[in-house]
Amino acid sequence: MIENRKDDHIRIASEQNVEEGNNLFNEVHFIHIALPEIDFDEVNTSITIFNKKLSFPFIIGAMTGGTETAEKINTTLAKCAEEFNIGMYVGSQRIAIVKPETARSFRIVAENAPTALKIANLGAPQVSRLDEKILVDWVSQAIDMINADAIAIHLNPAQEVFQPEGEPWFRGVIDKLRFIKKIANRPLIVKEVGNGISMEVARILASRVNPDAIDVAGIGGTSFIRIESIRAGAIDEANVFSGWGIPTAIAICEVRNVYDGVIIASGGIRSGLDGAKAMAIGANAFSMSRPLLLAALKGFDETKKFIGKLLREFKIAMFLTGSRNVNELNNAPVVFGQTIISWLGQRNVSCKHVSASK
Ligand SMILES: Cc1cc2nc3c(=O)[nH]c(=O)nc-3n(C[C@H](O)[C@H](O)[C@H](O)COP(=O)(O)O)c2cc1C
Repeated sequence: MIENRKDDHIRIASEQNVEEGNNLFNEVHFIHIALPEIDFDEVNTSITIFNKKLSFPFIIGAMTGGTETAEKINTTLAKCAEEFNIGMYVGSQRIAIVKPETARSFRIVAENAPTALKIANLGAPQVSRLDEKILVDWVSQAIDMINADAIAIHLNPAQEVFQPEGEPWFRGVIDKLRFIKKIANRPLIVKEVGNGISMEVARILASRVNPDAIDVAGIGGTSFIRIESIRAGAIDEANVFSGWGIPTAIAICEVRNVYDGVIIASGGIRSGLDGAKAMAIGANAFSMSRPLLLAALKGFDETKKFIGKLLREFKIAMFLTGSRNVNELNNAPVVFGQTIISWLGQRNVSCKHVSASK
């Protein structure tokens, strides 16, 4: 049952070791500015994205919905999104469309976060099999359910192929994405789920779909290869593919090399400092999932504390790089370590910071 799978994901992601790889933010170094010429309080962390002003460029990651536990998690996360004036993705809403009795677990996001940036979510393999008429209905249901400001479609071939009841159906996805972009009447975000978006994929998306944003969701955090293999009792197979994917810091550079739209950085981002680094190498916002699941399971106060800490870390990174606003952070100089330099060189990816630091 689809509900059991949703609860399995929450249980396994919260109780087991499901993170792997290195997102390579340890190889992105800021230059410390000893003379910032601003007061800490003057640092302006706000941004405007998808026509919404956020207090800082943070979006709660796409996780769940469809069960009682998921409803509690979504309520806590939505309350925090509203309180901090940040963004929030919901998990895949297919469950609520095929089982409308579960839609409440998503609707409560709109109730608890009426003004926050809210992002609807559907999976590419599922939409690939729908005819256009039904797809219009699914997209409008997903958007209306949470009064969404944008819609995300996730690309998750690794998850589907390791999932016991997986649907690794990717033929025709490009055309369906282009169709969704046409009919959604909202910004379209194309995201991965933790194995990363490459330059090749970003180039196809840019030329054939023209999404408003790409969320790179690289490797270095939650691994759905691990989660699904644990569910399948086939952890050996997961070990063979351990580390499969594009490290998040690299994915940002690869995508930015060929795509001018909004980039959301995610995949193993674990601090406001990681988020600030992502912003300095090409991202416009950052997102985090599993740590917020762990916090939300502990309750509202714990989640609020966690996001407050994240905001403070982000603001400190801005202050210490002398960035008065996010635009200045986007231009803050960084130095890359050898793995990143080598990767970008082999891939012929130019990054302004590489040439600046050479
Ligand atoms: C329990 C759980 C459920 C998830 N479900 C979805 C989903 O329904 N749709 C989606 O686009 N991503 C989903 N993701 C993937 C996250 O959005 C994110 O891409 C991934 O976890 C990497 O970020 P992290 O390392 O910060 O956790 C889920 C993640 C977790 C931990």
